[in-house]
Amino acid sequence: MGVDVLVGLQWGDEGKGKIVDLIANKYDVVARFQGGPNAGHTLIVEGKKYVLHTIPSGIIHANTINVVGAGTVIDPTVLVKELEMLHSAGISTENRLIISDKAHLILPTHKLLDEYYEKQKGEAKIGSTLRGIGPAYQDKYARTGLRMHHIHSGSFKSDYEALKKLHLVLLSSLGYEQNEEFKGIEEAWLNAIDQIRNIECSAIENYLNNLLDKGGNVLAEGAQGTLLDISFGSYPFVTSSNTSSASACIGLGVAPQRIKKVIGVYKAYLTRVGSGPFPTELDNEIGRTLMTFGNEYGATTGRERRCGWLDLPLLKQTVVQNGVTDLVITKSDVLTCLETFKAMDVSGKLQEFNSWEENISSVRDYSHLPQNLKLYLGFIESELALKNTMISTGPGRDEIIMC
Ligand code: IMP
Repeated sequence: MGVDVLVGLQWGDEGKGKIVDLIANKYDVVARFQGGPNAGHTLIVEGKKYVLHTIPSGIIHANTINVVGAGTVIDPTVLVKELEMLHSAGISTENRLIISDKAHLILPTHKLLDEYYEKQKGEAKIGSTLRGIGPAYQDKYARTGLRMHHIHSGSFKSDYEALKKLHLVLLSSLGYEQNEEFKGIEEAWLNAIDQIRNIECSAIENYLNNLLDKGGNVLAEGAQGTLLDISFGSYPFVTSSNTSSASACIGLGVAPQRIKKVIGVYKAYLTRVGSGPFPTELDNEIGRTLMTFGNEYGATTGRERRCGWLDLPLLKQTVVQNGVTDLVITKSDVLTCLETFKAMDVSGKLQEFNSWEENISSVRDYSHLPQNLKLYLGFIESELALKNTMISTGPGRDEIIMC
């Protein structure tokens, strides 16, 4: 009993959503602790695809409570769309969703600031998802932000207008002129605020600590990946939150002693969306083959993901930093699109492997995997000195091998 944390060990898009969905029913609560709607967690359940940006992936399981933590930033417009998507799929969120009163709000002007900061950077742009994440965290740390509890106060409208005014001064110095389009966006945002007032908004740190004291268990669901961590990633080509396991404590208000397992998810190759260094990148036909077969397009922005070989020096670093206890590999099935493939070993040398022809999506037993894949998995495990506890063999919920 306690908190298990699940994190991405690369640049995001490791397939965390599927793994959370797979294990969520073992937990009383699934909680998001950082990030915002820059995340896109894709789940495929009984052939139906769900993409979640704000709400934890546990929402698909009827008996799981879902918490959005204090370390997150929330765009009400995106949240409302997500609720509508779930409701139209017959998934009830009533009494199953609690948002921290301390989570920060993303304003329409935060998104504009994101766009204008990126424009100003020119060639040096970060490749942000432009969801207003960075500017919302900027206001959090400048102590000028609006939090979820503000929407329940009588002064919300004037608080909003004051912050908007500040943003517009900044935006006009960056070349932005307010227009009719903004009015429409703002109206939709204010409508969304009205709709999310019905969602339970409270001190989730008390709720979670009480639950844990009574023997309950929580799965903390990370967003993005460790290589995008604001402190330890390839700054400035990072996101604006701490994405590693320790961030679960800060984002949920639980002590480090509560953490039990750290589940680290990584892909059999490597992808990155947006700008920044990528030592094993394949800016060639092989990279494009991986992109096509691996369906490597951003769940949030639809952008093409840059593809490359598995980078074990980086993976080793993130395994150590997160204190991974349980390793999960995803998308090894995609490697069948190549006859041979490579991975960078911990000493920085590229090693070559032979692929296999068998379709592994229906394999449920490790011993039935192709020999060449077993060799690759063994190589990774010896480089990391850690065993894989799950091997994902396809996008569906049941396409998994428990080791
Ligand atoms: P931002 O957090 O939207 O400003 O984006 C900063 C960087 O992180 C960009 O390179 C994005 O592509 C990347 N990024 C943000 N969220 C995700 C994610 O969920 N998956 C993968 N990359 C992400």
